[in-house]
Amino acid sequence: MPDYKIAPSILSANFARLGEEVDNVLAAGADWVHFDVMDNHYVPNLTIGPMVCQALRKHGVEAPIDVHLMVEPVDDMIRMFADAGATYITFHPEASKHVDRSLQLIQSLGCKAGLVFNPASGLDAAKYVLDKLDMILLMSVNPGFGGQKFIPATLDKLKEARKLIDDSGLDIRLEIDGGVTKDNIREIAQAGADSFVAGSAIFNADDYAEVIKVMRAELAK
Ligand code: DX5
Ligand code: ZN
Repeated sequence: MPDYKIAPSILSANFARLGEEVDNVLAAGADWVHFDVMDNHYVPNLTIGPMVCQALRKHGVEAPIDVHLMVEPVDDMIRMFADAGATYITFHPEASKHVDRSLQLIQSLGCKAGLVFNPASGLDAAKYVLDKLDMILLMSVNPGFGGQKFIPATLDKLKEARKLIDDSGLDIRLEIDGGVTKDNIREIAQAGADSFVAGSAIFNADDYAEVIKVMRAELAK
């Protein structure tokens, strides 16, 4: 069985009690904290920045923080999030004029680097920078909001990305983001994902541990 990771998106957490929410979801069995950064420019929504990431580290969060940049441009935010304690930093290739350089910047600052692909985008931008990728993240909804429905065409793209990664022989995680639930996580894993972002499916539930337990049971089937 692949080393599956469950990464709750704090976009759906209660921001008024964020530290407690992150503690609770990690205690409930989550592996990573998925941190959605939106700038009301690249996407039509506005969320949280590096100060909040730093505050979570100061609060005592030790788990990997998986920073998903939905901002344009990216390089200043890369520097600030690396300083703020990010583990992964991923960005959308169309938001950087120099994708290879931005990936190198992330890795040079000691973080793991990834590219994010919108539902309608092909994987071309990953092809010549595979050696600089620690993660490929496929969006299975249009970025900007939690609580949307999984776009089924992403399953074919996952298979394509899985083949690209396996053929390369490189150690690159394949993450999926958007509309992941306990009911579709198994099919998504079968298509090739090994890391799963889930926002509303976890934070809208009364019992985070129960949802994560069911998700893991589905992955183990
Ligand atoms: C959307 C974000 C997602 C979102 C997922 O732009 O990147 O991480 O929070 O939320 P759900 O799991 O509710 O689709
Ligand atoms: Zn995200």
